[in-house]
Amino acid sequence: MAVYFDHNATTPVHPRVREAMEPYFHEEFGNASCLYRLGINASYAVEKARLQTARLLNAREEEIIFTSGGTEADNLAIKGVVMASGKRHIVTSVIEHPAVLQTCAFLEHYWDCRVTYLPVDAYGRVDPADLEKAITSETALVTIMAANNETGSIQPVRELADICRQRGILFHTDAVQAVGKIPVDVQGLRVDLLSLSGHKMYGPKGVGALYVRKGVELVPQAHGGGHEGGRRSGTENVPGIAGLGMAAELSRNELNSRIRHAAALRDGLWERLQRLNLNLVRNSPDGNCLPGTLNFSLPGINSRELVRQLDEAGFCVATGSACSTGKTTPSHVIKAIGRSDAAAASSIRISLGEGNTEAEIAAFVEVLPRAVEQAWAVSRASSGREGR
Ligand SMILES: Cc1ncc(COP(=O)(O)O)c(C=O)c1O
Repeated sequence: MAVYFDHNATTPVHPRVREAMEPYFHEEFGNASCLYRLGINASYAVEKARLQTARLLNAREEEIIFTSGGTEADNLAIKGVVMASGKRHIVTSVIEHPAVLQTCAFLEHYWDCRVTYLPVDAYGRVDPADLEKAITSETALVTIMAANNETGSIQPVRELADICRQRGILFHTDAVQAVGKIPVDVQGLRVDLLSLSGHKMYGPKGVGALYVRKGVELVPQAHGGGHEGGRRSGTENVPGIAGLGMAAELSRNELNSRIRHAAALRDGLWERLQRLNLNLVRNSPDGNCLPGTLNFSLPGINSRELVRQLDEAGFCVATGSACSTGKTTPSHVIKAIGRSDAAAASSIRISLGEGNTEAEIAAFVEVLPRAVEQAWAVSRASSGREGR
């Protein structure tokens, strides 16, 4: 089995999550809308998961809408609020995940919206003063992610949300990478809407949730049988939701040990990497960063080739975000923090999780120089071919 260092892309399903899901594939397969026992049992599972998810976020159960994942939660939050508001201006940041950027682009194109994209500093953070300046009387929503998937940088969400609250503007945060990795409390953060995803927190793929503060108006985006209080129609994914609930409960119970474990491994890794004299440029900030995330560039190296070499050596790591693999354009996030195209094209993301060990870190540091050498050789050979 390869060593898995890509927990920001997805996580393995925790055995207790699998166990919680299991009955709903077999003996308890009912439709949660049906009135007989089998259906009622399924609806109990959904409501238990709603409570578990609400507890993790310090929210109320009726403020949780289950979705098919982080992407759908982002779409529902942004389109839902903008359409309900009658206003046509959105403020976001340049480093958002495509689930937010593409939703904003959709509204620019089809809903006549204007979108302001706030820059970030060298640490990947939005300046609250820039947000103050960007808000207008036409602003329907501000949407800024809690933590970035590529660099791990954490935004000053409370400060940004406070500005919005003072101006009477709704604030949404894509917390897909934050939930389960750092404390996320919707009351403390003062956010109005928040997206999360099961598969980033040891839950299953294809399930997520949107927190919507009580009283916030939202136009549904999926119309049908009126599930989820009429805000998201579609027969509930009962096994997935039960799994998400258990993943939320585990995240709540294990958060502190997860943070300690991931941060210790990440810091140890960076210390060892620096001793290799590979001229690494660190892209993840030193503070205000997800505990297990380390993004760095190896200028001159083609990061896709290095990922291939590391895969051969038995390690799963990423170039940029999982959603942008397959594309050859340099990462928009690494460019936004002020790095060159060459640095952005040579960035590697390591994201550590529960199952990783000190021995795996040591083994990785051992194989990296050879993988870099081989990636160099391949890059040189292909540029030689192109030159001919
Ligand atoms: C920050 C962020 N938002 C949204 C998503 C999309 O979530 P999902 O895969 O559940 O649709 C991801 C997934 O990579 C992400 O990292």
